Amino acid sequence: MSEQAKAYLESVFGLEGKTAVVIGGTGTLGGAFCDALGGAGAHVLVVGRNEDHGQGVAKRINSRGGSAEFCRADSTRRADLESLAAHLKSADRNCDILINGAGINSATPFLEIDDDEWDRMLNINLRSVHLACQVLGKEMIASKTPGSIINVASLSGMTALSRVFTYSATKAAVLNLTQNLAREWAPHRIRVNAISPGFFPAEQNRKVLTPDRVENIMRHTPMDRFGEPHELAGAILLLASNAAGGFVTGANIVVDGGFTAMTI
Ligand SMILES: NC(=O)c1ccc[n+]([C@@H]2O[C@H](COP(=O)([O-])OP(=O)(O)OC[C@H]3O[C@@H](n4cnc5c(N)ncnc54)[C@H](O)[C@@H]3O)[C@@H](O)[C@H]2O)c1
Repeated sequence: MSEQAKAYLESVFGLEGKTAVVIGGTGTLGGAFCDALGGAGAHVLVVGRNEDHGQGVAKRINSRGGSAEFCRADSTRRADLESLAAHLKSADRNCDILINGAGINSATPFLEIDDDEWDRMLNINLRSVHLACQVLGKEMIASKTPGSIINVASLSGMTALSRVFTYSATKAAVLNLTQNLAREWAPHRIRVNAISPGFFPAEQNRKVLTPDRVENIMRHTPMDRFGEPHELAGAILLLASNAAGGFVTGANIVVDGGFTAMTI
């Protein structure tokens, strides 16, 4: 690549000097988000409950010449997120980019979903987003610098997807909250967007992707394959970078191999 092309891409997508907090950076897609942000020059806080996975992601980014650290936090606990905010302050860092990517899934038949399962799913998939936006979003506003929040929704939040009732309800709510915060925080130059991945094999959907389910998914996916986590990097960098996505807020970028475009 020519020096001119490198300089151009750097000016549009470069994140040098920015700090990115990736909640759920310990997971399959979250790890890919961390790689993308670290690769573009951001300092990455890999946030989650699984220390082995989180340290692994941070080590991978650092070994490639990037900058990353693991921070343990349960995203359903306000106190953990407040500690994260305090950690950023003590390191004299702003939260420039926040990704809300913690999530769980379940395919329990609707009449068998018990109160515990419903509460657990809402707690992790929805309340986590609410809490992180409150605790870290407040700091982003106070910093008076432009920022980007990316909420990880799902195609199941946009259309009725069989078997995953509670999951889909949480993701529809995440999309709605995303638009409402985009409206609310535009005057503070905090952009709030969502990405909606289609089907990417990961830990949280391992049990959901049964052979008959996979066959149905492929029949309904024009690209006839699962997505690969690195294929979300472009959407993440577009939304994270103020140069690339500075006028994009309240949007939802769908990365699903054409699943939601498909009828017959
Ligand atoms: N994989 C897909 O096909 C797909 C599609 C659409 C949306 N998503 C969403 O992408 C996000 C990432 O999921 P994934 O597919 O990589 O699954 P994953 O299971 O690999 O990753 C999820 C991560 O979230 C973490 N997590 C769960 N609860 C947490 C909590 N309370 N506090 C902190 N971390 C917590 C887990 O430890 C894990 O590291 C989720 O929001 C998921 O709903 C995934």
